[in-house]
Amino acid sequence: MKSVRDFELKDKKVIIRVDFNVPIKDNKILDDNRIIMSLKTINYAKEKGAKVILMSHLGRIKEESDKEKYSLRIVSERLSELLNKKVIFVASTRGKELEDNINNLKSGDVLLLENTRFEDLNGKLESGNDKALGEYWASLGDIFINDAFATSHRSHASNVGIASNLPSGIGFLVEDEIKNLSIALNSPKRPVALILGGAKVTDKIGIIKNFIDKCDYILIGGAMAYTFLNSLGFNIGKSLIDNDSIDFCKDMLKNHKEKIILPMDSIVSKEFGVDIKLKNNDEFDNDDMGLDIGDKTIEKFKNILDKCNTVIWNGPLGYSEVEKYSKGTKEILKYLSDKEKTVIIGGGDTASAAINFGYKSSFTHISTGGGASLEFLAGEKLPGIEAIDK
Ligand code: 3PG
Repeated sequence: MKSVRDFELKDKKVIIRVDFNVPIKDNKILDDNRIIMSLKTINYAKEKGAKVILMSHLGRIKEESDKEKYSLRIVSERLSELLNKKVIFVASTRGKELEDNINNLKSGDVLLLENTRFEDLNGKLESGNDKALGEYWASLGDIFINDAFATSHRSHASNVGIASNLPSGIGFLVEDEIKNLSIALNSPKRPVALILGGAKVTDKIGIIKNFIDKCDYILIGGAMAYTFLNSLGFNIGKSLIDNDSIDFCKDMLKNHKEKIILPMDSIVSKEFGVDIKLKNNDEFDNDDMGLDIGDKTIEKFKNILDKCNTVIWNGPLGYSEVEKYSKGTKEILKYLSDKEKTVIIGGGDTASAAINFGYKSSFTHISTGGGASLEFLAGEKLPGIEAIDK
């Protein structure tokens, strides 16, 4: 696959699709990791003398009033700070102002246009990969670089659409993601543990099926553990349950009994945030809600992880955004952080937990992708990457 290194960038208008879909609250960026991870490709293009045109989506745009909340202006300000250079922000996704600004770019300049999903208000043109929109955006540049790994599971006008109309390559972030996630996928040093958490079993069926023969243990935590426990007949009280997956859980536990490791105990509450208790699986009241793995489970997980050379982790082990339910996730992060193991964190909430709890640099790889890393690890082809020139 072609990379940004394979192109002569000097004086070329280089469109870089980045993923600046970052969490924003009260007009503040809560986590700028995705912006930071994009800097390598942007700086490279800038230093090679490209005229850099950045494109990204932010949030989902369903109605006119979403536009204010999801403007990329605030991201352009943060990016200007990080690059130590004023980023030219154009508050539109098409038209004369945008075209004039692009035509006036000098070598080494960086321009960011407005949220590509603003185009979704006129009939989902961006998310539906409208042909004319892809052609129009491609007409604004000479070369297209996809560095938005986290968006690569989407077939949108701003990735697949542009790539179909311009010479294209991947950026350093995407290259790094493919390299590291492929280690997990193709040649993990055994024994291998897959740690899975998060809300729903359904979301993880692809990855479980893909890894069942490639791994030695699947450690299950998070809300999805209660669907597995329910399928064994335990009373899980008011814990989240994914009724559509009960049969899948039963099958897995029947056919891979030794491999699938479930919690033995949990932190439960009757009301969210209050009345916190540690209970064994057979002690749940009808109104208990399981919100984190318990101490015995933490020890059991550590003992199993001790034996493993590779650990692939997708999904927090409890409701880790809330301090009271974050112990399981924190303890396992801490345990893994100083071990000589290949540890690959598969993005989304697990990546946020690792970064927020101070383990940003402790692991082999933390993916910037949520859904994209999950699909990649499930062995699926990502359209945003498939569209790039070979
Ligand atoms: C993500 O955050 O997973 C990506 O930016 C994709 O966003 P989406 O799920 O809204 O398409």
